[in-house]
Amino acid sequence: MDWQAHQDANRAGTALDGKYLYFDTAAAAPPVIAAVEAATDYLEQTARTGPYLPSLRARIYAQIDEIRADVAGFLGATPKELAFTRNGTESISLVARGLSWNEGDEIIVPDTEMLSNIAIWRMVANETGAQIVTVKGGITGLLDPEVVRAAITDRTRLITFAAMSNVTGAVQPVREICEVASARGVLTHVNAAQALGMMPVGLDVWPCDFISACTRKGLRAIEGSGVLAVRQRHIEGMTPTLAGWWNASFDDAGNVQFPATARKFEAGSPNIPAILALGAAVSTAVGLKIERIHARVRELTEYAAARLRAIDGTQIYGPERDEDRLGILPFNINGTDPAQLTLALEARGIIIEAGHFMATPILAAYGVERMARISLHYFNTTAEIDALIEAIESERGITA
Ligand SMILES: Cc1ncc(COP(=O)(O)O)c(C=O)c1O
Repeated sequence: MDWQAHQDANRAGTALDGKYLYFDTAAAAPPVIAAVEAATDYLEQTARTGPYLPSLRARIYAQIDEIRADVAGFLGATPKELAFTRNGTESISLVARGLSWNEGDEIIVPDTEMLSNIAIWRMVANETGAQIVTVKGGITGLLDPEVVRAAITDRTRLITFAAMSNVTGAVQPVREICEVASARGVLTHVNAAQALGMMPVGLDVWPCDFISACTRKGLRAIEGSGVLAVRQRHIEGMTPTLAGWWNASFDDAGNVQFPATARKFEAGSPNIPAILALGAAVSTAVGLKIERIHARVRELTEYAAARLRAIDGTQIYGPERDEDRLGILPFNINGTDPAQLTLALEARGIIIEAGHFMATPILAAYGVERMARISLHYFNTTAEIDALIEAIESERGITA
């Protein structure tokens, strides 16, 4: 399928019907139609017949098993290593809360992270006497494996970091960081919230212990869904944060038991519409091939960066080299208010975002409180980027 044909097919019947040019995949991408249909078909069926027809339930649970296998395959995991979650934040929290911590344990959290990969680690540290150790990505937002190596001590238990920053778009040397950490027996949690669906991600791609991700961004599933991959060897020793039907049972002595699979992290009624949508989104990504998606986004990133850089008075934040970032271009233009720029572009039918992106430590490193952010995906085109740049040039200088 060529990209234009894909784009045309993709846009028919979706919000991307030509009314808006959409450059905010880093917040959430427009879901693929197949994902929306999978969710709505199910919801419509439950409205027509009621959700608890024994035959419907059996079919849906069998489908969830198949989707678990497909999503696990996409993440280089076995079905037993894959948990469905409600969002990326939940996935991260299940890891932080699932491990047991001792006073003095050190958890490395770089300054490249957003709130969801900071808050829960600080909470468990505050509760247990573990210590948060910060390593700096510096002005480029890129982590240096040697800096990570230097931060590791005999007390370091885990490093948690985003494969790709939601602010700078910096793509971290994930493999190298994981190798440095595991050589010292340090656990590695990779937050793939931005990377999933944009580039190859998986337990087979990275020698890490845990991968968390939300699925509404690069993967183009629907909101309210996330994934967690946990290497089999860690599952048994971890405590599930949530317990109830779907994941727990108890014996006569009152001991609560959980399956020896990552399903132990899922409790209560599954978010069936979101899981069905996730299955469809993964099939779409597999059909398009993740390597092709990656190459396409890389190409568009370089094109957009060159055009944006050429606007007078523009500062692009993050990695100096375009090849060190993917899809995301945060920027400010001298004398231009990013929030006003974003509103003015929306009035022109062009969607970008402005703010601090819940990553204030990163913005602090640049001495700014707000930035504008363009984020791309494979459905964008160079013609759309041209239109975006022209609109930015026209609105340059807009203030509150
Ligand atoms: C880097 C990063 N980590 C974590 C999250 C949290 O994901 P979710 O919104 O699905 O909880 C996001 C996005 O919101 C993100 O960009």
